[in-house]
Amino acid sequence: MMNIVSQRCIILSLLCLATASSRAEVDLSKLPPPSTKTGVTFAQDIKPLLEASCVKCHSGDKPKAGLRLDTLENTLKGSKEGKVLVSGKSQQSQIVIAMAQLDPESAMPPKPRQGRRGPGGPGGPPAGGPPPGAPGAGGPPPGQHGGFGPPPKPLTPAEVGLVRAWIDQGAK
Ligand code: HEC
Repeated sequence: MMNIVSQRCIILSLLCLATASSRAEVDLSKLPPPSTKTGVTFAQDIKPLLEASCVKCHSGDKPKAGLRLDTLENTLKGSKEGKVLVSGKSQQSQIVIAMAQLDPESAMPPKPRQGRRGPGGPGGPPAGGPPPGAPGAGGPPPGQHGGFGPPPKPLTPAEVGLVRAWIDQGAK
């Protein structure tokens, strides 16, 4: 009996802690670890990831936030606000924090705007959007070659880890 009660206390206080911290700054310890791959380059490893998930909005004449992620040069140049990565320091790089989706404000690609996440969901699943087959998901199944492709998908933790390795190795 006692055990169940004290277990509940612990769970409740953990929930509170998690909620409080997710309101404040992002928790960098939640970043996926850098990949152990060596010799990571933009051309070979990073470009394909950005092309799949980012360049739809971050390229062309009017890139979002003035940030173009289509070439190494443009990626290093950053946005109209300034640089989005710190060479050698992936943990402090805005681009990594954005793509790891640590907080809904800065998460990239942006979360779909269909209502807020329910109350009291500390953390929550990293990927936005309704699960496939959920009521209201509608539309064609993803992965079809239609004119209107599926929305850009968030990077997986492994992919974020690869970007981290690339930055940590000097962003070449
Ligand atoms: C659907 C369009 C869209 C996609 C896809 C997208 N972004 Fe963005 N991005 C935006 C918009 C809009 C902003 C600026 C407004 C904001 O902060 O929400 C932005 C801002 C940013 C910023 C902040 C720039 C600054 O200095 O303020 C970064 C970094 C960024 N995006 C990285 C990425 C990365 C990396 C990806 C791919 C994983 C990506 N974005 C995919 C629309 C997009």
